[in-house]
Amino acid sequence: MFGKIIKRNIEGSKVFFKFENGEGRIEVINPFIINIFSGLKYDDHYSRAIEDLKVENCDFTVQNKGNYIKIKTDELEVRVYDEFKVDFYDKNGKVLCEDYKGERDPFIRRGNGSIAEGEGHAVEANKEKHKIEVVKKIFGDEKFYGLGDKTGHLNKRGYGYEMWNTDDPSPHVESHKSLYKSIPFFITLREDCVFGMFFDNTFKSYFDMAKENSNYYYFGADDGNLDYYFIGGNNICDILRRYTDLTGRTPLPQLWTLGYQQSRWSYAPETRVREIAKNFRENDIPCDVIHLDIDYMDNYKVFTWDNEKFKDEKKALKELKEDGFKIVTIIDPGVKKEKNYNIYEEGLKNGYFATDKDGVTYVNKVWPGDSVFPDFSEEATRKWWGENQKIMLDAGVSGIWNDMNEPASFNGPLPDDVQFKNDGRNSDHTEIHNIYGHLMAKATFEGIKKHSGKRPYIITRAAYAGIQKYSTVWTGDNQSFWEHLRMSVPMLLNLGMSGMSFCGTDVGGFSFDCTAELLSRWVQVGTFTPLFRNHSCIRTRDQEPWAFNGETLNINRKYIKLRYKLLPYLYDLMWKGENTGLPVMRPLVLHYSNDKNVYEINDQFLFGENIMVAPILEQGKTYRSVYIPEGTWIDYWTKEKIEGGKTILKNAPLDTCPIYIKAGSIIPNYPEQNYIGEKEIKELTLDIYSGNGEYEHYIDDGESFKYRDGEYTLYKFSIEAKEETIINVRKVNEGFKVYKSLKVVYNDNAKEVYFGNNKIEFVENNNGIEFNIPAEEGTIVIK
Ligand code: GLC
Repeated sequence: MFGKIIKRNIEGSKVFFKFENGEGRIEVINPFIINIFSGLKYDDHYSRAIEDLKVENCDFTVQNKGNYIKIKTDELEVRVYDEFKVDFYDKNGKVLCEDYKGERDPFIRRGNGSIAEGEGHAVEANKEKHKIEVVKKIFGDEKFYGLGDKTGHLNKRGYGYEMWNTDDPSPHVESHKSLYKSIPFFITLREDCVFGMFFDNTFKSYFDMAKENSNYYYFGADDGNLDYYFIGGNNICDILRRYTDLTGRTPLPQLWTLGYQQSRWSYAPETRVREIAKNFRENDIPCDVIHLDIDYMDNYKVFTWDNEKFKDEKKALKELKEDGFKIVTIIDPGVKKEKNYNIYEEGLKNGYFATDKDGVTYVNKVWPGDSVFPDFSEEATRKWWGENQKIMLDAGVSGIWNDMNEPASFNGPLPDDVQFKNDGRNSDHTEIHNIYGHLMAKATFEGIKKHSGKRPYIITRAAYAGIQKYSTVWTGDNQSFWEHLRMSVPMLLNLGMSGMSFCGTDVGGFSFDCTAELLSRWVQVGTFTPLFRNHSCIRTRDQEPWAFNGETLNINRKYIKLRYKLLPYLYDLMWKGENTGLPVMRPLVLHYSNDKNVYEINDQFLFGENIMVAPILEQGKTYRSVYIPEGTWIDYWTKEKIEGGKTILKNAPLDTCPIYIKAGSIIPNYPEQNYIGEKEIKELTLDIYSGNGEYEHYIDDGESFKYRDGEYTLYKFSIEAKEETIINVRKVNEGFKVYKSLKVVYNDNAKEVYFGNNKIEFVENNNGIEFNIPAEEGTIVIK
């Protein structure tokens, strides 16, 4: 399509190419990140993911090598050929990624599909040509990770996907090409290299990961610019750090958002909400959040309350908060078309709603019946929507749940020609669809930030790349199927590999009736998912922790309490994530990419670097094989030490989720609480596993942005196992209150303990010893 290179010239960080049939450019963003661009629609980037592209002024050279132009940074070499084919090498000349030089050549689909279609089978079409296509060569053992919330397995090789945010209530299975989110980013891992690829295009886009031909993979789109970023690095952590440098990181959330959350369509009226709250406290199950689904509203009108069901919502929310329950309310984009409804009238008067091609406000059906759709692509609308959040905050709401923002509609999909202002560009639905939910969440975030001054808590269903800056995400309407519990693990891991740390699924499953055993196993996974919310559909069986039997209740209690115990560790992970882009839930490949045994592990994951979880994901199963990666790991329940690099068989009766701790780990624990903030934490417990390691523990006020001005305390612990075990305690920053004491639980044998020169008394427990020391800097020696 581009033809031969005619001319090139360098301007700052960019090398411009004139081809026979078009123009393109390569930009050196930094020595590791290269942007490949051709303005097929707009002259420059028009990104909703990258809001602040930081181009480093770094040195690079450009040379004409005859049949290609070589651009070299300190870390990468880029070769640009005719047809705007681009290859990437590392600084030593090793090939990383090549454009496929042949034509696409899909496998043949034999026969006439109509007979199969007649019986209702889905039959795939033949090769589709897309306006934009970038085809990359397969060298051999490529694995692909990322691509957001797609169904199926961790490694995406051999599958094809589409980015078109879709609300499909049918059971999500591997044939679903798209779900609610569009995250056009993936990581390619080969035996000797790793790199990331971010295709920043909001139109419907396509990702074929060597499905149609095992010699290549490709991405493409129906419209927009050719605009993608090649991200180099030494390992997956580097790639994620750089991808999130571009698209943003998950900011530290309020601490309570990491607590347990209970939801259902719907807890209403108010008496039912209070009953749920009471049940938590009576059953001794910690809980921080109750969600109100659509039935709290007056006729599904957003930013209203049904005052028959909630007589005095302010009073109710205040009283619930006094007992530790924060309320999160659902807000959908569809605004009921109803005369004298203030939100509708205001939006109409100010032109805040999307229109049809003739400029008439576009109407479709959602929960409220005929509804109109705010044009979140326009700043004025986002501001207005942000201001409306105050209505909810004033009622005492603590967070907002954005749903149906693909946008979903009941009267057929929004036509392609629905019009959006797109901050002055005037675009149609084909361009805005995939960023509609993203921009709704952004508007919500900005409004809540402005009016509460606290770290906003938003959950969104639809998303585009970069959503992690504004919102946590959940994976939409799963079902109470074992299959969906199993799939939730690779799905959440790939969300993490797409920059999204704060994510979760509906624990217990949304549609269909849950069983006691399924909920027991699901809550074990949920304990380790950053967003830990049990949610279920209207008219399904009750699914609260107490809804089945005593055993299920006990299992829920055991794991929800474990979650609260691990909260400081989880909060530390979120804090580190804001600085590194690393997710909370990680596939083993993220830290053990040299071990080919882990590339396809779909049913185990790391919770940070120190904890590995190997849940039971099958009905009736009470044992499983567990792959233990290199190093020594300790069974969390039995404290048995296991040497890694092998597979073991683990017994796991219904109340046991296999959990392993890496040797040399220091895991901070909180005492039991009914909700976060119930107790002032004066003593931190350190759960210590002998070996060598370091650990940073972070504390702040848990809700404001003051940490960004230094109001936090950071401890640095290290452990070294020689003949004696030496544990160092340091305070790197002391900008927030500090603990008074540390309780050390040392999971190994010991004869004597010293803190500085003082001999410390200890007590023995089943697996080791416990002792207390003041929370001061110093050195602990355990003999
Ligand atoms: C959608 C959401 C679900 C919610 C329901 C009613 O199906 O995905 O979570 O309960 O709408 O609001």
